[in-house]
Amino acid sequence: MANHVIGDVSDTAFWVAHYRGIEGDRPMPLFRDPLAGVLAGERGKKIAKAMPYTFWTGWSVVIRTCIIDDYIRTAIGQGVEAVLNLGAGLDTRPYRLELPESFLWIEADYPAMIEYKEEKLAGEKPRCHLERVKVDLADTGERRRLFASVNARSKKILVLAEGVVPYLEPDDVASLADDLKAMDHASYWVVDYFSPQMVKYRRRLNRRMGNAPFKFMPKSWFEFFQQHGWRAKEIRYLMEEAEKLRRPVEIPWHMKLSFRLWRLFMSKQRREKMERVSGYVMLERESGAVQRGVFESAYATEGGHAPWDIGKVQPAFRAAADRVVGSVLDAGCGTGENALFFAARDNAVTGFDFLEAPILAAKRKASERGLKANFIVADALKLEEWTERFDNAIDSGLFHVFSDEDRARYVRGLSRVLKSGGRLFILCFSDQTPGTQGPRRITQEELRRTFADGWEIESIELARFETRPEAKKTMFAGEDPKAWFVMARRAS
Ligand SMILES: C[S@@+](CC[C@H](N)C(=O)[O-])C[C@H]1O[C@@H](n2cnc3c(N)ncnc32)[C@H](O)[C@@H]1O
Repeated sequence: MANHVIGDVSDTAFWVAHYRGIEGDRPMPLFRDPLAGVLAGERGKKIAKAMPYTFWTGWSVVIRTCIIDDYIRTAIGQGVEAVLNLGAGLDTRPYRLELPESFLWIEADYPAMIEYKEEKLAGEKPRCHLERVKVDLADTGERRRLFASVNARSKKILVLAEGVVPYLEPDDVASLADDLKAMDHASYWVVDYFSPQMVKYRRRLNRRMGNAPFKFMPKSWFEFFQQHGWRAKEIRYLMEEAEKLRRPVEIPWHMKLSFRLWRLFMSKQRREKMERVSGYVMLERESGAVQRGVFESAYATEGGHAPWDIGKVQPAFRAAADRVVGSVLDAGCGTGENALFFAARDNAVTGFDFLEAPILAAKRKASERGLKANFIVADALKLEEWTERFDNAIDSGLFHVFSDEDRARYVRGLSRVLKSGGRLFILCFSDQTPGTQGPRRITQEELRRTFADGWEIESIELARFETRPEAKKTMFAGEDPKAWFVMARRAS
């Protein structure tokens, strides 16, 4: 019975390698991958023979291979220096693709898979620098150690997880996404995409998937990843790509006929939906500028559920209040609690945020409390265009949302809007906060580097980021996350 053919997830690697291997036997192959055939061997052939919808699976493996090959080529053209292939299985791209010799390729998989592969490919020479790591990716500690070490070795990394995510529980995908987000040199992440329509088919297939059923079926695929800081840069759908490659799926003639008839009576929209049921997505890490979705949904609930929106000033700013003399600019002010605290102390305050919802809330609070403050919608990455100058700038939770590139731009803008000798106060997540939930952690060293030129750092103190009780419990093991409180002066 087919049920017993797939013993575990590793078997799926033999199954798909079989299809990659036999592609080279076709008259007009889309690629040749003889080593895939060597690796798949009898085990791969046996699984393929016993599984249902083999015409579909074989075809989709070939098309997905072409899509991902192309993603990798494009990424290399855009400066990617390394690939981290998670759950690499029997993939042979380091031997098959034209890669720069110095290119770093790291394959991670279960020890048994790596040992098998090393033995079978012992006499073969990869085209780039290839390393293999034995790791159980479900083990958070092992996984994070791997990510940290790869992150330290390359400035621009593409993470590949081909045929991996569908087999994980949603919580595991979420924590994988968070760990990859924390790996700040991981610029791209390639994963499988399935539409809700496809879920039905997959449920049916699950009955035959033995010990490797599909588990990841989020209601909204794109939203799921966006909430973890990854947004779709490009998506290629299997059917559309197959058309471009002139390789339609080889379905039995009676199915083909009914499919054609069906198509005739379908609206364009419906047809598109049908043809976009599965594909491969190149995700890119969201930078500050595109992190809108995350913040929008945080402010979407009436009454708010944003972890940082605590309804009062952050204690670190209260403690430093006497040092804040003169006008104040609150960057990424959210619903304005910190800005209003200084307004109540008679500082002339301007708060800005790139979202309208929190700005409206801030204005409402100001009028309810009878306080005078100027709240505007503006992007922190465009501060260089401002003409107004301030004695102080405060930042509670904005600095740490930016990528390295955007951070540099933001800091340039800050030095523009501050008067010479003006003071900057930042409260940002510290690397002393364990885990990966919440924003990126900042080290003291990064802070010193960021403010090395044109600034004098007066102090960096360990502080806390007060968060709402429910977030504290679910995201930070019951403790307010640790933060750095930075005081810096713009050089005169
Ligand atoms: C962690 S929240 C902190 C909000 C507020 N400072 C507080 O302490 O309650 C970060 C804020 O930065 C805003 N933000 C993120 N990127 C921004 C950008 N490029 N320009 C302006 N605001 C931004 C978000 O909308 C959000 O309100």
